[in-house]
Amino acid sequence: MKTVEVRSPSAGYRVFLGRGILRSLPQELKKAGVTGKILIVSSPRIFGLHGKKLAGVLKAAGMKDTSVELFPDGEKHKTWESCAGILKELFIFEGGSMKKPAVIAFGGGVVGDVAGFAASIYKRGVHLVNVPTTLLAMVDSSVGGKTGIDFSNGGITVKNMLGTFHQPRLVFADTVFLDTLPASEFRNGIAEIIKYGIIKDRALFGFLEKKAGKTMSGRALLHIIEKSVSIKAGIVGKDECETKGLRYLLNYGHTVGHAVEAASAFRYSHGGAVSIGMLCAAAISVKKGLMSAHDIGRIEGLVRAYGLPVEYSGIKPEEIMTILRYDKKFGGGENRFILPCGIGSAAVVRGVKWSIVREAVAERGGGKT
Ligand SMILES: NC(=O)c1ccc[n+]([C@@H]2O[C@H](COP(=O)([O-])OP(=O)(O)OC[C@H]3O[C@@H](n4cnc5c(N)ncnc54)[C@H](O)[C@@H]3O)[C@@H](O)[C@H]2O)c1
Repeated sequence: MKTVEVRSPSAGYRVFLGRGILRSLPQELKKAGVTGKILIVSSPRIFGLHGKKLAGVLKAAGMKDTSVELFPDGEKHKTWESCAGILKELFIFEGGSMKKPAVIAFGGGVVGDVAGFAASIYKRGVHLVNVPTTLLAMVDSSVGGKTGIDFSNGGITVKNMLGTFHQPRLVFADTVFLDTLPASEFRNGIAEIIKYGIIKDRALFGFLEKKAGKTMSGRALLHIIEKSVSIKAGIVGKDECETKGLRYLLNYGHTVGHAVEAASAFRYSHGGAVSIGMLCAAAISVKKGLMSAHDIGRIEGLVRAYGLPVEYSGIKPEEIMTILRYDKKFGGGENRFILPCGIGSAAVVRGVKWSIVREAVAERGGGKT
């Protein structure tokens, strides 16, 4: 079992990584002070596939005071209603006892974000443990303490509009769960790992290039998860609440990516849209002389090799540009882009000319609008 330490100003915790490590969860829970009542939050799909295993491991270790709250996952259930269901169950389950129950978030990023949000506001915060079951959740959402739900009003839904920072007590990533993950969801996680390589780790990028076209499993899979988690842990340790500009680097590819997702009415998966977004941002870098044409060619080659899209179709560049102008990150009328400066480093660049952004966005249109 491998471990990665996360040391942020508000908390220190460990991320445990490995295959078939779940049986060690109870002992690590006890070490982290998670004893007593535990509410497992998951979705019917994930709990149906793997819930027995998790409940069995806890029971076998004498942790019998558990309850389960399920809500259907998928972005459209990342809502206040799902969160309220968890809060109600926490209230009933606690039953007036003196000790606050802990929450285990057992699922992908949606389960993790909603369960984490509920855990952060119930009685001003209860212990949270993340047991991620998607590659994306393992390398990204389970680490770093961002929790949240989407908010809708008047037909407009804003992603992660309500949220908190609430670090978990520990994260337990067992790659066995990935055996049942659909290939499209696996690719979403790979897109985020490519992102880490571009913004921070040239060697990780090179490793992904070497493994392209081969099955990513065993040691290689653990290696890329560990590297990604270490990068995220390093960034979160220095800029926990996104106030110093460093954590912002993790949004590389996500600005145009979110616009592509929205403009396509979510026809493009998150990973697919982020891949297109990463290429648009890289093209802006090349136009500004921050990166070579050779490097963007490598990024495009890697994205393609992992079955992720390199261009969009069925959307007009103007639709993407309109959404970009409304992006909440562009406060004060000034845009901010995370631009790669070669492979393995990136910078936050302010005030990129809209004409350059438009050109980069239009070039990825594939001419099929
Ligand atoms: N908090 C953060 O820092 C952070 C970072 C990145 C993304 N996110 C959020 O994460 C969410 C996306 O997370 P996601 O990509 O994990 O998607 P998800 O949680 O929607 O899960 C994707 C699908 O995979 C299924 N699934 C999960 N585990 C499975 C398994 N082991 N076997 C079979 N099916 C399984 C789920 O039922 C779901 O249908 C978004 O809401 C995003 O905003 C949060």
